Amino acid sequence: MLKVLGLTKNYKSKLTIFKNKAKSINAVNDISFSLNKNEILGLVGESGCGKSTLARLLVRLEKPTRGTIIYNGKDIWDIRKKEMNIFRKQVQVIFQDTYCSLNPNLKVIDSLMEPLNNHFKEKSKEDKIKEIKNLINFASLDESILSRYPSKISGGERQRINICRALLLKPRVLICDEITSSLDVCTQAYILDMIKKLRNKYNTSILFISHDIMSVDYLCDRIMVMKDGKLVEDIENKKIGLNSFTEEYTRELISSVPKRYFSNKAAFNK
Ligand SMILES: Nc1ncnc2c1ncn2[C@@H]1O[C@H](COP(=O)(O)OP(=O)(O)OP(=O)(O)O)[C@@H](O)[C@H]1O
Ligand SMILES: [Mg+2]
Repeated sequence: MLKVLGLTKNYKSKLTIFKNKAKSINAVNDISFSLNKNEILGLVGESGCGKSTLARLLVRLEKPTRGTIIYNGKDIWDIRKKEMNIFRKQVQVIFQDTYCSLNPNLKVIDSLMEPLNNHFKEKSKEDKIKEIKNLINFASLDESILSRYPSKISGGERQRINICRALLLKPRVLICDEITSSLDVCTQAYILDMIKKLRNKYNTSILFISHDIMSVDYLCDRIMVMKDGKLVEDIENKKIGLNSFTEEYTRELISSVPKRYFSNKAAFNK
């Protein structure tokens, strides 16, 4: 679905009275990978390793310093305006901050109508409302939520609304950047299950970015590990276990997970 070749993003740090030389930060450093059809691909790594920069590059919110991103056989920086609309519709991103992503002055129903009004002008209002209600049910939310404002719903509910909002455009690729980070464990589980269900129902390819290796292990078919802007590991999740990662860094990441988790997982998989 997406092919990334030698992707690199450098930022110049600002000059301050303490620093008289601009330093270059290699936020993403020569990364190559593919996101396959109907795959949930996990991306883990510690804070500041470049995960969100990669997400922004993938959806064309930022221009890479070097490298290419191929979607539908074309470099996403070479596509024309008409194809750009298709790209914007088919490749969706959801970020961690649930509150900022919904307009506080709009009721939930109006926030959900917005993408439909922009991209599906030919559809009738009744059809749009029907579609929204179907998704609200899919997200196990009550329809009464539609008439509320974002400040009157919980963080977990807001994140589910954000997922519904992205799904209304029937994306072929969904990039989730730390979408469960600010939620409690129980709500996290709800969202992870929703993502699993979504892949099965809509055949969406998903890049699931998280610093929580447990969520990624639960959800993903394949896992990539990033460190200091580079990809240090890319493995099939079937092999995951305390000994299956080869990189020292990944082992350190895993050693922070309670051993109980892996023994429970082995028992669960039997
Ligand atoms: N616009 C920018 N200008 C300068 N430096 C930036 C910019 N955006 C990100 N960086 C730097 O690039 C590096 C990677 O940041 P990024 O936000 O991609 O990390 P991350 O892996 O998403 O971290 P977290 O897990 O905390 O969200 C960091 O050192 C960050 O300070
Ligand atoms: Mg981030």
